[in-house]
Amino acid sequence: MIIASNFKTNHNRQSTKEFVNFINSQNYFSEVRVYPPFTALGHFELTPNIRIGAQNFYPAQNGSFTGEIGFDQLEEFEVESVLIGHSERRHIFGETQESICKKYDFAKGKESEIIYCVGEPKEIREQGIEAVMSYIWEQFDGIDIDYDELVVAYEPVWAIGTGLSASLEDIKEVLDRLRMRIKSPLLYGGSVKVETTKDILSIENCGGILVGTASWSVENFSKMIEISDNI
Ligand code: 13P
Repeated sequence: MIIASNFKTNHNRQSTKEFVNFINSQNYFSEVRVYPPFTALGHFELTPNIRIGAQNFYPAQNGSFTGEIGFDQLEEFEVESVLIGHSERRHIFGETQESICKKYDFAKGKESEIIYCVGEPKEIREQGIEAVMSYIWEQFDGIDIDYDELVVAYEPVWAIGTGLSASLEDIKEVLDRLRMRIKSPLLYGGSVKVETTKDILSIENCGGILVGTASWSVENFSKMIEISDNI
């Protein structure tokens, strides 16, 4: 199971260090991922099942891209995992499928683990599962789904940061359909809480969770990992 925390624009260097060191001291055996803000990346000595990742990057090793972070900067901190296609990047920052593919291909060329996020907005969900799936499959346009280091996260836009998680049935239906074409681990994200972790992780085809809000407290995140360790 992969239990991942996306810090988004939360935590600073000191609180990230405390968070990561605490998780690392617990001898969990689930696969744990933490995506701090760039400014809180650092040199952490971690057990192999724990990885620090980047929430974003510019698809270049280095160069003249004012304000951006390339792979030279990530490699300095041994970043081994990146998020691509997150709905906040797609919707708030206007990332197009074309720019997402450039990031994907670049990270793939670097053999980085990629957590590739997909998910439909509310108006598509209201049209039913066929509309949801055709929307999601379009988010795979230009994406190599056979990449060995791919992890897919299904994160319905309407469930992110709203406190309103998708139902277990809705999650299962989408993951089952993704599984027909995708062999990579499949995660769910969107208002996952400690109380809902066990049921979500018990869904067939669910290989883990990608958590925002509820994971920013290290106590909560630890509880989620413990639940995963016990499944
Ligand atoms: P929330 O857990 O806050 O809904 O965020 C989910 C998410 O976007 C993880 O990437």
